[in-house]
Amino acid sequence: MTVDESRVLRLLLVEDNPGDARLLREELRDVVGPRFDVRHVTLLAQALEAAHEPGLDVVLLDLSLPDGHGLSNIERLTQVAPALPVVVLTGTDDEQLAMRAVHAGAQDYLVKGQVTGPLLVRALRYAIERKRADEGLKREEAARQTAVFREQFLGILGHDLRNPLQAITGNAALLLRFGGLSEPQRRALQRITDSSDRMARMINDLLDFTRTRLGGGYALERARTDLYEVLRLVVEELEVAHPTRRFELSVDGDGWGEWDAGRIAQAASNLVGNAVQYSPADSPVRVAARDEGERLRVEVRNGGAPIPPERLTHIFDPFVRGTDRTRARTGLGLGLYITHEILKAHEGSLQVRSSADEGTCFWFFLPRGPRDGRPGSERSSEPPE
Ligand SMILES: Nc1ncnc2c1ncn2[C@@H]1O[C@H](COP(=O)(O)OP(=O)(O)OP(=O)(O)O)[C@@H](O)[C@H]1O
Ligand SMILES: [Mg+2]
Repeated sequence: MTVDESRVLRLLLVEDNPGDARLLREELRDVVGPRFDVRHVTLLAQALEAAHEPGLDVVLLDLSLPDGHGLSNIERLTQVAPALPVVVLTGTDDEQLAMRAVHAGAQDYLVKGQVTGPLLVRALRYAIERKRADEGLKREEAARQTAVFREQFLGILGHDLRNPLQAITGNAALLLRFGGLSEPQRRALQRITDSSDRMARMINDLLDFTRTRLGGGYALERARTDLYEVLRLVVEELEVAHPTRRFELSVDGDGWGEWDAGRIAQAASNLVGNAVQYSPADSPVRVAARDEGERLRVEVRNGGAPIPPERLTHIFDPFVRGTDRTRARTGLGLGLYITHEILKAHEGSLQVRSSADEGTCFWFFLPRGPRDGRPGSERSSEPPE
């Protein structure tokens, strides 16, 4: 990428000496090549302020200002605007100082009195190019580190944590099957199994989170699926786990489409599971699905205290969860984030409203198939920025 010749470049000139400033402006005006729109300030404090302004391309910075002197001027400026290229101006032709200026964060170095128009323009343009290249390298390095971190994290979750957990659940199940246990012993084993199951779910959610947040995304395995059957199974499973709760499921029309059945079941289970978890035990949980032609609409409703408005606005962000951490069955706050991601991957959407009068309602739309007609598996989320 090169500096666009036709574009006016916005230059911040930080120079307290009016004579020097005038000379530099004249040099810039008379030279052929890119045009400069010069914003002139005389103090470092003003420069630090102006550096925040959007659209600046480059800074020409005097090293001796009334309120700042020497290399610290560069450091302070690059602190507030790390991506802004800086060309330094100084009164002395000192090679060592020049090198130190570059180490302090400047892209180039000019000696007053030796500055000609072409030299100045070249220094400014190179500074912009060099900074862009540096920033590009930094982004590549950050992306590489993210990829390494992701692999390590997926390895820890998927292997190092999951394996010992499977040993716990496997052996607890074995002990239960052997029998001959007293009732307190059996109950203790059941608690081990329940807690391990919860932990396994959290690990799976963290794996999903890592996949979506750190690149890669979901690989959807779309196949002909009856959404209504998926909903029935999800509700049945929760009925077994909560035999005293009342569930109402209503479906209407045609429930068939091309979806990743496992992922859709996970999304539905998160929503219905939340509805059970965050509402009074004597209130019903209602699931209603509707055929809307090209898409389906599913809503999950529950009563109880509404979600506070300040939480509602970012409820689909990861790790957003209720403040009541004393509850026994608290999660990581990933359920809704993952549900949202699953629906996004299917080109659907998730929405919510919650009030004291009507309770809480989550609903989603799900198109029957990929809009561009692609069959089979696909990647869902974009790589990280
Ligand atoms: N149906 C609901 N009714 C009331 N509050 C809800 C409902 N669903 C979610 N919430 C609130 O939103 C928060 C976030 O929900 P989410 O499912 O993302 O995380 P979680 O249930 O806390 O943990 P996880 O799902 O990861 O186990 C919950 O902690 C709860 O406070
Ligand atoms: Mg949840």
